[in-house]
Amino acid sequence: MPSYQEIYEHHADRYDELVDREDCENHLGQWLDGALSSPPSLVVELGCGTGRLTRMLAKHATILRAYDGYPHMIERAQQVAALQNVTYKVSDNASLPEAKHVADAIFAGWTIGHLTGLFPNDWKSRVEAVLDGMDRIAKNDARVVIIETLGTCVDAPSPPNERLGAMYELLESQRGFRCDTISTDYEFESATAAARIMGFFFGEGMAERVRMRDTSRVPEWTGIWWRAHRT
Ligand SMILES: C[S@@+](CC[C@H](N)C(=O)[O-])C[C@H]1O[C@@H](n2cnc3c(N)ncnc32)[C@H](O)[C@@H]1O
Repeated sequence: MPSYQEIYEHHADRYDELVDREDCENHLGQWLDGALSSPPSLVVELGCGTGRLTRMLAKHATILRAYDGYPHMIERAQQVAALQNVTYKVSDNASLPEAKHVADAIFAGWTIGHLTGLFPNDWKSRVEAVLDGMDRIAKNDARVVIIETLGTCVDAPSPPNERLGAMYELLESQRGFRCDTISTDYEFESATAAARIMGFFFGEGMAERVRMRDTSRVPEWTGIWWRAHRT
């Protein structure tokens, strides 16, 4: 099984195979429609990947600047959809090339949490550096939104491991975020496709759990942490 870095460097097409099947009832799209009912002029997105969330956000924004640390993911996003109001650029989440107080809304989807896996000893300071960077570019009252997993192939929402749980606790108790929980189940063509595609991204243990369920639908839970920024 490839590492996340290998996937983001070389296998954007297979990543897309997974996220194309995610959130089959469009609960995230519905949340965004409610949250962005007065459309923000400039949206900045961190860790845009192959552009799934980007495409949902683009319809709400006048201008959307989407960043990802891996050029291969951005190339795929550009191939999938060239959108007039979206520009893509390579940047690490911790060093966005944006001026102070420019963004009306800032989104980071399933990207900040990676720091807890990559840096078990100093994930906290790295997460805080990304959060500080988001605050730096936010206008007063800007909507700041962080989307992360609350579990895949499980029947109830819960942080999938201790460090992610600690990161979510930090968002809520120290950084003023509130969390909305939604289901974002996957729907695949078959139970066999579900195990193959989920296994590629999440590993053999996940493939086995999906095989045990033996259904084309795999449950998933997602947390949306949001707040209005005050300068
Ligand atoms: C799970 S994917 C999520 C992609 C996209 N937001 C989506 O909804 O499908 C995580 C993304 O974060 C990017 N990423 C991971 N660490 C990063 C970092 N430190 N700086 C910038 N991008 C990063 C990866 O390249 C990948 O595209």
